[in-house]
Amino acid sequence: MYAELPTDPRPRGLAGTDEAGVGVQLGQRTAIYVYEAPVRLWHWVNALLIVVLIATGFFIGRPLPSMPGEASDAFLMGYIRFAHFAAGQALVVAYLARIFWAFVGNKHSRQIFYIPFWNARWWKEVVWEAKWYLFLVPEPKKYEGHNPLAHLAMFTMFNLTLVFLILTGCALYAEGQGQGSWWFAAFGWVIDLLGPNTLWVHTLHRAAMWVMLVFAIIHIYAAIREDIMSRQSMISTMLSGERMFKDDGQ
Ligand code: HEM
Ligand code: HEM
Repeated sequence: MYAELPTDPRPRGLAGTDEAGVGVQLGQRTAIYVYEAPVRLWHWVNALLIVVLIATGFFIGRPLPSMPGEASDAFLMGYIRFAHFAAGQALVVAYLARIFWAFVGNKHSRQIFYIPFWNARWWKEVVWEAKWYLFLVPEPKKYEGHNPLAHLAMFTMFNLTLVFLILTGCALYAEGQGQGSWWFAAFGWVIDLLGPNTLWVHTLHRAAMWVMLVFAIIHIYAAIREDIMSRQSMISTMLSGERMFKDDGQ
């Protein structure tokens, strides 16, 4: 029905200039579309919500010193708790949407939800990447999606830690909503599991916050470091979706 379009015969070259400043063709630089728009949108929304949850959660557990004046005039902790609950519920909705996208999106949208546990070569490359991050090997490898170490970190943080934060957070919220609420019917079992009351749920929810905070700091460091030092693009890949390989065709 439709005639096949001829492919553009011109090479997608890497533009450059020679010593005299004249434009020259350096070779091929490949770009691969990796992170689709919903994955990128989820990334930045989720990152923002987690920052809000960490900042507000910190003060829920360690409140600010008492406010001066009439107690009924101050609602600061109320606003902080409201921001936490709203961000928490938005985070759950965003996470469910992200899981949905793993079913309908490209193969990279599924990467953070599984690890090739039985693949010895993958584990070897986890160790290789760890050495690369520690400046112990001179050359990184190239990956379309997350490198194996990042893959392992994403898998652990966003299947185990984040789900744990969601379950314990919803259980704490259920306690506030009361025993007759649907929240309690859905998440009351978490309190029973970690019980006898919500003291442990609070403590573990807070401990998981520290795990998430440490991850976020290392993750941002690694994203900037790899943007500069690795053989592929990083931060722009989470903005445009395109992964560029810096040394292709050289
Ligand atoms: C990245 C995700 C999250 C982080 C880092 C986080 C962090 C925290 C922290 C540090 C606390 C204070 C715990 C304490 O010391 O007692 C807290 C309390 C709480 N969080 Fe979260 N949270 C997260 C997600 C959620 C979610 C998804 C919900 C569910 C809506 C939620 C609901 C609550 C509730 C109800 C409390 C107790 C509030 C109170 O006792 O006044 N959190 N959170
Ligand atoms: C300035 C802040 C941030 C920057 C520049 C950034 C950058 C990036 C980059 C470049 C990637 C892709 C890495 C790769 O291709 O292997 C990525 C992935 C990811 N980042 Fe961030 N990030 C930031 C903040 C955060 C925060 C605060 C969180 C949550 C705690 C987060 C969670 C994630 C997750 C879950 C992925 C995997 C996305 C997926 O495959 O679905 N990021 N980030």
